[in-house]
Amino acid sequence: MKKIKSLSLLLVSVTLLFNSCKNEKSEIDKKVDRLLSQMTLEEKVGQMTQITLDAIGNGESVFASKIPFEFDSTRINNALQKYYVGSILNTTNNYALPPSQWNEIISKIQAAAQKTRLKIPIIYGIDAIHGSTYTVGSTIFPQQITLAATFNPQNAYNMANVCAYETRACGIPWNFSPVLDLGADPRFSRQFEGFGEDPLLGKVMGEQIIKGYEGKGDSIIESTKVASCLKHFLAYSVPNSGKDRTPAYIPEHVIREYHLPQFKAAIDAGAESVMINSGLINGVSVHANHDIITKLLKEELGFEGVVVTDWMDIINLQKRDKIAANNKEAVKMAINAGIDMSMVPYDYVSFCDDLVALVNEGEVKESRIDDAVRRILKLKFKLGLFDKPLTNINDYPDFASAKHEKMAYQAASEAITLLKNEGAILPISKSTKILVTGPNANSMRSLNGGWSYSWQGDKAEQFATKYNTFYEAILQKSSSKNIKHIPGVSYIETGKYFEEKENKYNEAIIAARNVDVVILCLGENTYTEKPGDLNDLNLSALQTKLAIDIAKSGKPVILVLNEGRPRCISTIEPYMKAIVQTYLPGNYGGNALADILYGDVNPSGKLPYTYPAYPNSIVNYYHKFSEEQKPSEGAYKYESDYNPQYEFGYGLSYTTFEYSNLKADKELFADNQTVTVSVSIKNTGMFDGKETVMLYSSDKVASISPDVKRLRKFEKIFLKKGETKTVQFTINASDLAFVNQYNQTITENGEFELRIANLSKQIFFEN
Ligand code: BGC
Repeated sequence: MKKIKSLSLLLVSVTLLFNSCKNEKSEIDKKVDRLLSQMTLEEKVGQMTQITLDAIGNGESVFASKIPFEFDSTRINNALQKYYVGSILNTTNNYALPPSQWNEIISKIQAAAQKTRLKIPIIYGIDAIHGSTYTVGSTIFPQQITLAATFNPQNAYNMANVCAYETRACGIPWNFSPVLDLGADPRFSRQFEGFGEDPLLGKVMGEQIIKGYEGKGDSIIESTKVASCLKHFLAYSVPNSGKDRTPAYIPEHVIREYHLPQFKAAIDAGAESVMINSGLINGVSVHANHDIITKLLKEELGFEGVVVTDWMDIINLQKRDKIAANNKEAVKMAINAGIDMSMVPYDYVSFCDDLVALVNEGEVKESRIDDAVRRILKLKFKLGLFDKPLTNINDYPDFASAKHEKMAYQAASEAITLLKNEGAILPISKSTKILVTGPNANSMRSLNGGWSYSWQGDKAEQFATKYNTFYEAILQKSSSKNIKHIPGVSYIETGKYFEEKENKYNEAIIAARNVDVVILCLGENTYTEKPGDLNDLNLSALQTKLAIDIAKSGKPVILVLNEGRPRCISTIEPYMKAIVQTYLPGNYGGNALADILYGDVNPSGKLPYTYPAYPNSIVNYYHKFSEEQKPSEGAYKYESDYNPQYEFGYGLSYTTFEYSNLKADKELFADNQTVTVSVSIKNTGMFDGKETVMLYSSDKVASISPDVKRLRKFEKIFLKKGETKTVQFTINASDLAFVNQYNQTITENGEFELRIANLSKQIFFEN
């Protein structure tokens, strides 16, 4: 009886809590309505306007405010008092600032907002994409591609949770992250910003990021959370040329099959805002595409949050895409397509004036404006900005704490992927005499990648001095008697960007002869967006030459790759005894690598993309036609066959795992049923280790040519040496569905092959 009583009490309180949350929501709606009803058209349009910080700073406004940052009172008054600008973004001078300075800047901005008639707070936004990356001293995690390689969603959650805390500590409540663009084309300069080529991996990781940034339910009101911004909706990452912001031609069923699921899942997880793809799909600028922004995103997916443009992208409709004759026409197209906020980011006067005129002329309905402003105000209320627009770093004792650092290190150490280990040359012993060489050997910049301390990541050497490069971390593990560093090749700053140049090249070649092992650190320097466009996916000619010349020493070479996208290495691969992919592991990547090289950590990362062998052979793992189904007749081996350097999901360990006993509890299943699949994994080697168990399916016959295989479930487990575990997955018809030529998501009757490692099982679906 007592139990029943307490149970009903619990139920009553849960219901009350639920109702109060619901009421809280409608309270916000009421507040929004009340505020909106008092606003003039000019004030509403101001809320839809986002400018960059430099636009209100002293100095030239384009990335060139005075240092330290000073507000220009005329500029800030014009923006906030005269034009009622509702949002500001970015750092100043493309530079990281200490948290206390962020607090000061935000408090001056909010004070200026308090002087406006309706005292609506500013929503400040930033790109804190792998930690609070524009903040000096913050905890910088690995980039998203590196998190994906861990195949452990907890790492994505940790990054987002810590990043939210440290970003909010600065007073910034809105983060332009995560990137959910599909990393299907390694030529693309922003591949490192996403979760790789698999939609399911992107979906699972993306959901965790939303949880980490926003918490559960309405908890973005907590001052440790930020609003996330999914980008770049939709299908931004696969332009035909491989170059940023160039046209893409993609059929709708392909968009829905591979590019949409991650966004849908993140929206269902409660993501508060979305940024639009800066490019063109099928000839139409996405920023002017009503079908994508309104019909698909807002109506079909039911997205109720804020839709923001990317940088200058309304202006681009006129200036770049030439689909609008002037700015006014561009504004009309974008707002009518469903844009809620324009990241102008400098010339806000013409955006505001043009939009006001368009409404007065009846070209844009005021109801569209109200819809946009309602979304923006709602977000501001949800974030609690009306009551608490400011935060103070002193209230954030965990900022850059050891606890946070540990999580960033953990993510890096779980991501690093062992691709080759001939003769078990790794791990090495502490007494091994080593030459550490290559342009990435002693660089904090290349560990972090773009969007780290600055847009292009070029300021890491200045801000990340307290962390270890690969060389420094290796040195700490051993002693200066055993470890020598000669760069051989370096990235040299030349004006705006950099060039690769020989640096003690011959010295490095000669030194290689006198050590036991060479650790050759190659890859890329930092970049993002247009500056990261590539003409050749091959590893650079100079680094290729260095690799071959070093290998001629006859000493075993361990190639450490440190790169945002897989640069082709087929020319040098045969000369390498071991190959380790570190991706962009962040500030703790040096330590994580050294721990792996010396065997203190067993590598467990897996490739989140297909590593191509050649630039002209870019094929995703979910391509069409398996070996047996080759469209070409005969037994010839064609150059076009799928033959990558390494497959998606590939990654070695210092131990070995044996899979057995793959079972499915049903052979035949229908729409309302599930199939439970189980498999046993034994650690048969000499090290404890982590393994990612991946379940793939192949649709044997389908109305459009089926993918060879698709990842359907995965789980990362830990096994002590000698230990066996059984992993279970549950799948249903929707897990095996695909988007057909009529853009419908369906599961067709017939045979499916389920595969885990080298085992397979047939099941049949019948409805
Ligand atoms: C990028 C976005 C970014 C925005 C604001 C743009 O150039 O494409 O990803 O969020 O700038 O910095």
